[in-house]
Amino acid sequence: MDPLLFAPIETLRQRQSAKWRTHPSDVLPLPVAEMDVDLAPPIQAALRAAVERSDTGYPAPMPAMALALAGFAGERWGWELDPSSVTAVTDVGVGVVELLRVLVRPGDPVVICPPVYPPFFDWVPEAGGRVHEVPLAEGRLDLPGLERAFATHPAAFLLCNPHNPVGRVHTREELTELVRLATAYNVPILSDEIHAPLVLPGATFTPLLTVPGAAAVAVSLVSTSKAWNLAGLKCATIVTASPKMAALTDRLPPDTPWRIGHFGVLASVAAYTEGVPWLDQLLATLDERRSLLGRLLAERLPTLSWQPPEATFLAWIDCSSIGAGARDLFFEKGRVALEPGPLFGAAGRDHVRLNFGTSAEILEAAIDRMAKAIDS
Ligand SMILES: Cc1ncc(COP(=O)(O)O)c(C=O)c1O
Repeated sequence: MDPLLFAPIETLRQRQSAKWRTHPSDVLPLPVAEMDVDLAPPIQAALRAAVERSDTGYPAPMPAMALALAGFAGERWGWELDPSSVTAVTDVGVGVVELLRVLVRPGDPVVICPPVYPPFFDWVPEAGGRVHEVPLAEGRLDLPGLERAFATHPAAFLLCNPHNPVGRVHTREELTELVRLATAYNVPILSDEIHAPLVLPGATFTPLLTVPGAAAVAVSLVSTSKAWNLAGLKCATIVTASPKMAALTDRLPPDTPWRIGHFGVLASVAAYTEGVPWLDQLLATLDERRSLLGRLLAERLPTLSWQPPEATFLAWIDCSSIGAGARDLFFEKGRVALEPGPLFGAAGRDHVRLNFGTSAEILEAAIDRMAKAIDS
């Protein structure tokens, strides 16, 4: 099989997406979670064919997308989901907010585990709730802390699995205990599984809905947008596995499925049905990048520390040796843009998040610039 293609920097700079349009052209942008990889060939073909047919009308996601997802989830994770329990939503963010609108009364607490994907802090108040933080404990779910929080009867728990930014893949044992607690205290779980296809060699993903008992308390949100780099096409899915949780999706605004992207549906079907060999190549490449980043950090930036992620193309780097100004130092002196750790919650104060979903050349250049920024 051909090696994965990462576009050269000159081509990347022509991209019009947020990653390549936010910063001046002398900056290497490694913040926002888009990859610099070329689209998987079957997805390119599906989108080209749609353009050739002038097939740019409204989406018709079902049953094709649900069947494609069910086929992928069964093969990949042994998750036998019912295609009729799949609801299309614009993106994971819209899915979470709309579900929270159903679950939350004004001011109700919703539990999240920082450091976590920054919009979690926004989605909860957008739906009228109030964030209740139970920070990760050494990068893992703090199950006793979650039990204490669940005992106060929050409206929901928003799980991130795999967890952005630390890259942790929660184990089946941890998820089993989580489900036990959620059942005991009657707390619905919204499981954001957007990074699930990006679990790297060495770790095993457990879809929450495959944990015994989860069907009655949990809803899962999945999407092709991270693993196949399709965020701009606006298409994701909510999956339920019990009448009780399906009642939540029944209460979503009736026009919800009309608000997705038609190209997102076509691309997602191609990804799940024909894009798996490409995904496997991507994961092998990201595994190499993860090792390369480890070597580069050890050689060039030995005062920084990190725990290599078990999933995602995101590295959570501890810059305590530099202090809270690390992100600005790398940006101003090194012209490398990284995601500022404090956006992920107080625990991210001295951290930056680096996106290694790029070519080895760009990764090496970025670390070189960061090392020179410190030396200066
Ligand atoms: C954990 C997590 N959830 C959701 C999103 C955003 O997904 P969407 O664009 O489908 O709203 C991201 C994007 O990086 C993410 O990391």
